Amino acid sequence: MLRLRVFALLIAAAVLGPIGRVNSHTESGNWHCHSGSGIRVRAQFIPGIITVDGKVDDWKDVEESNFPLLPALDPDADKEYNAGKMTLKAVHDGKEAYFMLQVNGNYAYTQGDSSKCPSVALMFQIGENASYHRMGGCEQGPDTCTNKTCHGHEVDIMHFSLGSAIPGRLYGGNPIDNREGYGGDRFGHLVDVYAWNPHCRFLDGMSPSGNDTTAQNDWQGSWWHSSLTDHSGFIKDDSPYASEGQKGTYYFEFSRPLRTMDRLQQDAQFTIGKSSKLSAAFWYPMDGKPWHGSAHYSISCDWILLDFISGGSEPTMVAQGSPWDAATAFSLLFSVVAFCMAIFIGHRLSRINRTGNFIPMDNL
Ligand SMILES: *[C@@H]1O[C@H](CO)[C@@H](O)[C@H](O)[C@H]1NC(C)=O
Ligand SMILES: *[C@@H]1O[C@H](CO)[C@@H](O)[C@H](O)[C@H]1NC(C)=O
Ligand SMILES: *[C@@H]1O[C@H](CO)[C@@H](O)[C@H](O)[C@H]1NC(C)=O
Repeated sequence: MLRLRVFALLIAAAVLGPIGRVNSHTESGNWHCHSGSGIRVRAQFIPGIITVDGKVDDWKDVEESNFPLLPALDPDADKEYNAGKMTLKAVHDGKEAYFMLQVNGNYAYTQGDSSKCPSVALMFQIGENASYHRMGGCEQGPDTCTNKTCHGHEVDIMHFSLGSAIPGRLYGGNPIDNREGYGGDRFGHLVDVYAWNPHCRFLDGMSPSGNDTTAQNDWQGSWWHSSLTDHSGFIKDDSPYASEGQKGTYYFEFSRPLRTMDRLQQDAQFTIGKSSKLSAAFWYPMDGKPWHGSAHYSISCDWILLDFISGGSEPTMVAQGSPWDAATAFSLLFSVVAFCMAIFIGHRLSRINRTGNFIPMDNL
């Protein structure tokens, strides 16, 4: 079933690919986006398969979506990231959502300098009026944006920078930063951020009108590159973990609860059976040159729909109910028969006892 769907999706992607390419240009200063890919990312209910360790062999049966990476601020097909498309996969286990991003790239890692390492971000719509373009698209400037003036334009962002993150280790929400009530991560820079526009972007819990220490970093994640060989786990002293420039693929894995305890409109909330709006971004130090914040690639010039599929919608899952029902019915029948036998034997015994004589068992 799953295989068939993946296959159908691959065919659809292959057919739609050339026409469905993200075509956009700047028209008299106005943003214009023809995001004709029509791709919907499906997060199916597949419990118990994903370990968030940066290694992606556990994702092999999950359907994939492939996106060309175009410069986010100038989505011109001529400037596509030249090492290949980004593959995105998502699943959920009924409680957590899992995401995998995969992109080809020669190995680049400079300890302590994130801008000389690759970096990825996921962005989700929170407010109903939050546009993909300009991270929510609130018209206010940095001096006037507040949770009131930009209400309805909130987007949720997870950003993972690699400069201090050891491959295969888990980063993101941790007890020390979460005790302080912010979306930060002092260990690996996998941060939980929200924004109203590119100039009004804050760690969860921080805002221009005051900080609220009830926030948390709800994300966790890990990274890996196919040129790395791991025997018993890397430590910081192993940095840079592999030699510079090796051909291969970067893998990023993330998890987050479907629902968070956010009360400030700073986290997207995911619902099984409903769709969310998503985008993904990628930064890479081209020719070893450090990247800067706005120079990133994006998977589309508009939101991509992400469907959280209910476990009950899979026929195989429904069928699982019947053998269990049969077993219950059988055990009920069995206990009724046993109960009747017990009464019968008890009755016979009480009659025997009334006579007060010992009667051998074989006479019963
Ligand atoms: C979104 O925009 C519409 C139309 O401008 C408006 O009616 C609605 O109240 C807005 N929603 C929020 C949450 O601000
Ligand atoms: C919020 O917290 C940050 C970091 O601790 C601090 O720099 C800022 O001044 C705080 N803002 C307010 C309004 O208290
Ligand atoms: C806006 O943020 C401030 C400071 O965190 C908070 O006190 C206030 O309740 C928030 N307002 C809304 C409408 O969420």
